[in-house]
Amino acid sequence: MRRLRFIVPLVLVMVIAVVILASSLSPGKGTDADIEKSNDTFQPLQKLNKLELVHASLGAHAIGGSDSDRQSYDRPGQESEIRLTEDDLLSWNMVYVGRDNPLDRSFTVDLVETVGGYLVDVRIHTYLEDMIRDAAKDGVELEVCSAYRSVSTQKSLIDRKAQSMISSGLDIDIAHHKALEYLAVPGESEHHTGLAVDFITPDKSTLDDSFADTEAFAWLSENAFRYGFILRYPAGKEDITGFPYEPWHYRYVGKEHAISMLNSGMCLEEYLSTAVR
Ligand code: DAL
Ligand code: ZN
Repeated sequence: MRRLRFIVPLVLVMVIAVVILASSLSPGKGTDADIEKSNDTFQPLQKLNKLELVHASLGAHAIGGSDSDRQSYDRPGQESEIRLTEDDLLSWNMVYVGRDNPLDRSFTVDLVETVGGYLVDVRIHTYLEDMIRDAAKDGVELEVCSAYRSVSTQKSLIDRKAQSMISSGLDIDIAHHKALEYLAVPGESEHHTGLAVDFITPDKSTLDDSFADTEAFAWLSENAFRYGFILRYPAGKEDITGFPYEPWHYRYVGKEHAISMLNSGMCLEEYLSTAVR
């Protein structure tokens, strides 16, 4: 009987231990956050598979990729083609603003502060921040130096640019005219949408063509589409976009449209013109 007094608690402790161990080994349901993450269609760079990486090697910014990669990408059923419809043009991420195409006066956007204190459309800030974070993991520092701009900010930028040329001796009218070659007329800047971002990087902190020689630009050329961003003013498309090459200016259109544009080599104006009824 005295022996039983020791055995019963011992067996009880063993049973509890087995139950705890079994429950810790079962798959379980996970937290709501885990479930949400697994349903998220946006994939950080680390989770990308080979097929998605091949997408970067096709189209206007081809950076290599073997023939077998290309064939597997071209298989029917891949997400290589989007047939743009006129309805698509109404979606927020397809909003068009460009030279002689001011933003509609009724346009509104909800903005949120992003890295560096700049404002962007609330719907893109996760993509932007994921892109910057993943670039940093690859050793590339992307620094935002301009994002949302009000019409009055755009005006100030034009005045400042013109003023610097006037200080160098240029005639006032010519200086203003020249400033508008690079900067959009207030009301016609994509920066008003909150969908455009300009980048610099520590070894290149001025906005000029040499940004194209940086690791930051190489990284963006290969990866920006994964986060839904496109190079908005590419080299060779100046007559269509109405602006000189801007290797630093990226515009959110969404991942599927970004892939389609890369594959076709179209700039935004060309892409939007393919919309069918
Ligand atoms: N530099 C671009 C075109 C802008 O001013 O919006
Ligand atoms: Zn810009």
